[in-house]
Amino acid sequence: MISKRAESLAPSETLKISARAKELQREGRSVISLSQGEPDYKTPSFICDAAIKAINDGFHGYTMNTGTPELREAICSKLRRDNGFDYTPGQIVVSNGAKQSIAFALLATINPGDEVLIPAPYWVSYPEMVKLAGGTPVIIRSAFDNDYKIKASELENTITPNTRMLILCSPSNPTGSCYTAEELGELAAVLRKHPGILVLSDEIYEYIVFDQAHASIGQAAPDLYGRIILVNGFSKGFAMTGWRLGYLAAPQAIASAVAKLQSQLTSAPSSISQKAGEAAYNGKMDEVHAMVAEFKKRRDYLVGELRSIPGVKCFMPGGAFYAYPDISGYLGKTAADGTAIDTSTDLCMYLMEKEGLAAVPGDAFGEPDGIRLSYSTSMDQLREAVSRLKKALASLQ
Ligand SMILES: Cc1ncc(COP(=O)(O)O)c(C=O)c1O
Repeated sequence: MISKRAESLAPSETLKISARAKELQREGRSVISLSQGEPDYKTPSFICDAAIKAINDGFHGYTMNTGTPELREAICSKLRRDNGFDYTPGQIVVSNGAKQSIAFALLATINPGDEVLIPAPYWVSYPEMVKLAGGTPVIIRSAFDNDYKIKASELENTITPNTRMLILCSPSNPTGSCYTAEELGELAAVLRKHPGILVLSDEIYEYIVFDQAHASIGQAAPDLYGRIILVNGFSKGFAMTGWRLGYLAAPQAIASAVAKLQSQLTSAPSSISQKAGEAAYNGKMDEVHAMVAEFKKRRDYLVGELRSIPGVKCFMPGGAFYAYPDISGYLGKTAADGTAIDTSTDLCMYLMEKEGLAAVPGDAFGEPDGIRLSYSTSMDQLREAVSRLKKALASLQ
């Protein structure tokens, strides 16, 4: 009854944690979640106003399947202004979120047998999407000491004649790590030797950076322009996750192939959301900056606290709203009731059962020594979460 394709997909490991969190809440327990992947902010009001105007103006029909010309023009202006890239509106395909852009980019470029390199820790959907496209995900482990960023040598050692694509995500979900322009330049030097490899650069967290300007591989290596698929969107920077709006910018042949897929599978994204996106890119960034300043305060607090816990290591993430502490010092321990804590999933289930604290286990991201903690929540909640985390870890023997 169910296709092999659907059956081969791994269920989301985070579901187990969130299902248990909901169960505990129903039982009346207090649960604090550090597992969320979206800003705890509202979309800026001037963006909402543009959407309301679109509704009142009767902007209700299908748009061009690659997105309205005005939005694609606004995206090109943004890419020129922020990143120094020269794209034409015909190279932009607007979609129902960056997630769809990534899926369609893979469907448009990957053939059976193609290997797609995915640095770990990775965003959970990449390997499953690669498999759906018929490709083979090849995971590159990276070192904690390098803030979980891959090095040129690690990239080089993983390339085979079948390698078709490298997926980069900076700032990273789940680690918050950001590649510098110099590091991207080193990766580009390897890619230059292998002209058949495409790069999918997922820059959805671009605007949420704290310590250095965002760096994009296309800036670090303009000569790779012809093989970079740049993915971005509105979800994170403008707190617009529910509006479902993202896009890709790509060499013309790839953009056209994605447009063809999109025309048959999903048509265009919501006309109203597109008007909102246009306003976002043409408008002021004050509210985005205020949100980022608040995330920075929370990051500094959370990482400071994590570093004070014996046996926990944590580097300072440069962007997004996640910290990814190494908790391997607690693996192999036992809880007072005899529960063995052998994996990051065991630890997260324990945090949930013992203290009502929801975190995502590193097992889900291909890096089992860590857990992902989202600080997209209020300072009060964060303080309470830290206190529960400390209590739970201290109780392990
Ligand atoms: C790394 C990464 N890429 C892409 C997405 C998808 O974003 P969107 O909401 O635009 O589909 C997410 C959302 O969690 C993400 O974390």
